[in-house]
Amino acid sequence: MKVAVFSFHEFERTFLDAANAGKHELKYIESSLSTHTAILAHDCGVVSIFTNDDASAEVLDLLHQQGVRYLALRSAGFNHVDLEKAKALGMKVARVPAYSPYAIAEHTVALMLALNRKLIRANQRVRDMNFSLNGLTGFDMNGKTVGVIGTGKIGQILIKILHGFGCQILAMDLEEQQDLKSKYQVEYTSVENLCRQSDIISLQVPLNEHTRYLINEQTIAVMKPGVMLINTSRGALVDTKAVIHGLKSRHIGTFGMDVYEEEDGLFFEDHSGDILQDDTIARLMTFPNVLITAHQAFLTDTALGNIADTTLENINAFANQQTSGNEL
Ligand code: NAI
Repeated sequence: MKVAVFSFHEFERTFLDAANAGKHELKYIESSLSTHTAILAHDCGVVSIFTNDDASAEVLDLLHQQGVRYLALRSAGFNHVDLEKAKALGMKVARVPAYSPYAIAEHTVALMLALNRKLIRANQRVRDMNFSLNGLTGFDMNGKTVGVIGTGKIGQILIKILHGFGCQILAMDLEEQQDLKSKYQVEYTSVENLCRQSDIISLQVPLNEHTRYLINEQTIAVMKPGVMLINTSRGALVDTKAVIHGLKSRHIGTFGMDVYEEEDGLFFEDHSGDILQDDTIARLMTFPNVLITAHQAFLTDTALGNIADTTLENINAFANQQTSGNEL
């Protein structure tokens, strides 16, 4: 089969080539999928996309007109795909449901520790031969209360790691996991109560109509002054303007983000020669107590290998007229 791989990144090449093992013709396209670039799939029966590609009804129509019949997502999240439209067109969609929850949970902890112990500032000082410690005081993780919103695959690993640090865990989810309660003494509660009691709050829920702007002016208002907020899930889980307001008033002590609601067209790309047009992220970048990574929580060799393997398994199943267990 010929496969148009949109939003291809160089860091994926060795993993995709190895998983494909020469079976299919992979057409690597660095551009993201949109109404403007859909034409690049004109000779392909399969399209593979990443998190920031546009798989709206309009784009799916264009792909279908060109003969595309299968959409192989290289991601777990599928909030960017119009599934109803795909179904109406008879286009199958498969995802990579889990590739390494450890990668994301561990990056979440990396953000927490780097913010807490001010590692970026400390490193900058040392490089400048400034060995002063003033202003670098952190806190012991041991004994702190961490609120984990979403106790699915990633949330569960995060809880296990934080329990190892000696943290008390509050959680919020639609479904309670009994084993988290018995193994790690996790206490499920409401978002409001979690916000009131937590020293650190971390978001591990998918983005949907119920979770959009879950963190907003009202939820921030009840948080503990000086709270640490971490978002490694999806940008629009937080109202970024409300977070900026919280940072300016010092109600939010530190903010770690790996995702941003307007990250499309920004993250995953080198804009070092451009003039930044987005004033919201520009403001976030000025805070010394904000740590931003550009959607890299998944970026480990284990995760990339698993993403490539599952994506190619899904494509192989389609090529062999079989149904993969990962179809949506
Ligand atoms: P999962 O599906 O295993 O767990 C999600 C949990 O959220 C489930 O327990 C579910 O019951 C809960 N949930 C859903 N809607 C809810 C609501 N309205 N209120 C409360 N709880 C709700 O997903 P997983 O694998 O743990 O991933 C979580 C999210 O992490 C993904 O949806 C994705 O957005 C993000 N992610 C980020 C990556 C990155 O590189 N930064 C990479 C992979 C995932």
